Amino acid sequence: MANSQESSLPFQAANLCFRYGAELVIDDISLELRCGEMLGVIGPNGSGKSTLLRLLSGVLQPERGDILLNGRPLAVYTRRQLGRQLAVVPQETIIEFPFSVTEVVLMGRSPHLGGFSFEGRRDLEIVHTAMARCGVSQLAKRSIHELSGGERQRVILARALAQEADILLLDEPGAFLDIRHEVEIYDLLHDLQREGRSIVTVLHDLNLAALYCDRVALLKDGQLMRLGPPGEVITYRAITEVYETEVYVELNTLTGAVNVLPLSRKYREKLAGQEPERRTKKPAPI
Ligand SMILES: Nc1ncnc2c1ncn2[C@@H]1O[C@H](COP(=O)(O)OP(=O)(O)OP(=O)(O)O)[C@@H](O)[C@H]1O
Ligand SMILES: [Mg+2]
Repeated sequence: MANSQESSLPFQAANLCFRYGAELVIDDISLELRCGEMLGVIGPNGSGKSTLLRLLSGVLQPERGDILLNGRPLAVYTRRQLGRQLAVVPQETIIEFPFSVTEVVLMGRSPHLGGFSFEGRRDLEIVHTAMARCGVSQLAKRSIHELSGGERQRVILARALAQEADILLLDEPGAFLDIRHEVEIYDLLHDLQREGRSIVTVLHDLNLAALYCDRVALLKDGQLMRLGPPGEVITYRAITEVYETEVYVELNTLTGAVNVLPLSRKYREKLAGQEPERRTKKPAPI
């Protein structure tokens, strides 16, 4: 029985297991999302990050384990109820028809509209605010099919914002974005957090994970290897073991966050065989 503090957690997942066919891709994962936090999910390609997000969003059902959303089993919510509490930005979004950007963002309002009711002035205001926050207002009339990958990504994020859900599940929201737009999106997520949203985001950029996330979950082969503050999870030992490549890890003197630098073969070979102390500067505690 969850106590009152636990039931105020946006998400509680316990002992999740999931298979595609015979392949176990989520292997006994337990984690919770705390109120107002940004939880980063990192791990190599194929480690199960998107699958974990699909389980949390109710798109997939676990073979074993439980997921509580705001203290109640995920399965008791209708799609519409879920849409009011949970906004999802998938890794890939397919939009079949050449809707305009405004129309796509307006789709985010559908969980709030009655069966046959049309959007009102307030819905349009929310849509325009979401578009402005994601920097896509100038694209309003363009077809979603005629945008660059990064522009499209920001439109899909605007659609999620228009949902006005308290929980955001984002699968690589920074993919396709240039460095300015990428930090702007994470700054925006940080602002949303301060407004009370709770966020789970999958990301590949370990430096951004260290900079923005309150806690980080590190996955490998469907297992949760580590879960905790970035400084405790993104360490030289954990990253080289999980990603199976040599990296250079240092603490950034400006931000105080961990920086992970990928190394070309030349430097990987140079460091091979050296003591771990030489391969990392001021290592974070392991
Ligand atoms: N629809 C599917 N059917 C069968 N296997 C799948 C399916 N989707 C994913 N998989 C497999 O499940 C495993 C986990 O995939 P998942 O998409 O969750 O990984 P990921 O961590 O998100 O990877 P990436 O960083 O490449 O996005 C992979 O081995 C993948 O090949
Ligand atoms: Mg993925």
